[in-house]
Amino acid sequence: MNYNKKTVMDMDVAGKKVLLRCDFNVPMAKDGSGVITDDKRIRAALPTIRYLLEQGAAVIACSHMGKPVATYESYVKKQTEKGKDPATLTEEKWRKSLAELSLAPVAKRLSELLEMEVIMAADVVGPDAQAKAAALQPGQLLLLENTRFEKGETKNDPALAKAMADMAELYVSDAFGAVHRAHASTAGVADYLPAVSGFLIQKELEVIGGALAAPKRPLVAILGGSKVSSKIGVIDNLLSIADTIIIGGGMAYTFSAAKGGKIGNSLFEADWQDYANQMVEKAAQKGVKLLLPVDTVCGDKFAPDANVQVVPAGQIPDGWEGLDIGPKTVELYCAAVQDAGTVIWNGPMGVFEFAAFAKGTEAVAEALSKTDAITIIGGGDSAAAVQQLGYADKMSHISTGGGASLEFMEGKELPGVACLLDR
Ligand code: 3PG
Repeated sequence: MNYNKKTVMDMDVAGKKVLLRCDFNVPMAKDGSGVITDDKRIRAALPTIRYLLEQGAAVIACSHMGKPVATYESYVKKQTEKGKDPATLTEEKWRKSLAELSLAPVAKRLSELLEMEVIMAADVVGPDAQAKAAALQPGQLLLLENTRFEKGETKNDPALAKAMADMAELYVSDAFGAVHRAHASTAGVADYLPAVSGFLIQKELEVIGGALAAPKRPLVAILGGSKVSSKIGVIDNLLSIADTIIIGGGMAYTFSAAKGGKIGNSLFEADWQDYANQMVEKAAQKGVKLLLPVDTVCGDKFAPDANVQVVPAGQIPDGWEGLDIGPKTVELYCAAVQDAGTVIWNGPMGVFEFAAFAKGTEAVAEALSKTDAITIIGGGDSAAAVQQLGYADKMSHISTGGGASLEFMEGKELPGVACLLDR
């Protein structure tokens, strides 16, 4: 796939209406108060927004938020499938679930960060959005409502894509976190408008794409997280690219069990054992170092106050479960990072939400903060861990994409990038 895409800098945007797709899918407080708990994705979109406004564009921003159910009928169906009593599923409840996913809190935060008015539309392509987009002047910013309030969004409905495109003269995508989705606002709209990238997508493509295509070697990939099944594509692709692959997190126990180790109650995907063994063989054939944990911190329950003991890998007693990499593994993994030219990290080493099982993830984050290597953190949990531990400023790049950065590392085509004009 060609990642050399035209950007806003290649277009004359002055006086134009620009539809700007952002990823404003930010975490919100669970109490429905509309408080944004991490505004990183909003901040990440500011350079492109500022540039467009300064160049005299009228900016119509849009984004999805969460996974709203766009029709009352589908809401009843989905909730009933989840075991809810249909008699309790009122239309009012459905509307409340939508209201909690409104982009209004994002408009407020954007307005604070930009120190300017952000006009909020009550719909996506409805009468309010149409009227406000038509009246929008150069230098003004309009935010449409959650694109997933339209049922055509996730279906990539051409009618919705066209209706969005009709409000503007140019499409700019800066929604890196959503480029793995072929939706109306992330890909479909590019069928009706010239489409280019913003600065955020450009940077993510350059940094992650650069590390995959021509890395400063040795390239060390650290892969964690709970499931082998969710990382297969990445491991497979990186076996042809990386010099060293480090495995941590819950998925390490499937590798251990596949080798005949005892893993107690640890996370385990029986169906992926053969695959795990194949990966070990493939790594050996390709001369890629595949590092697996040599010891494990285990607990007698999955809880912050569990009793804790450290055991050699593959020797987890019955009734115990592996919840973090052990101290010898930490030493081994940190040494591998020290000599790296590039490190890509995706997925925590243990249950870092519990202090007793956070040491592996903390140590890896610290090692990354000290190395001279280019350090790239995939979005999602590892990005959250690095931020929580205060190392964010020390990393070369923290991706704003969770699923998107993972699919990028799998070598998959990203529909939200493929639809942009080539340079
Ligand atoms: C993300 O948070 O990874 C992106 O915003 C994509 O969201 P989605 O998984 O709901 O499509």
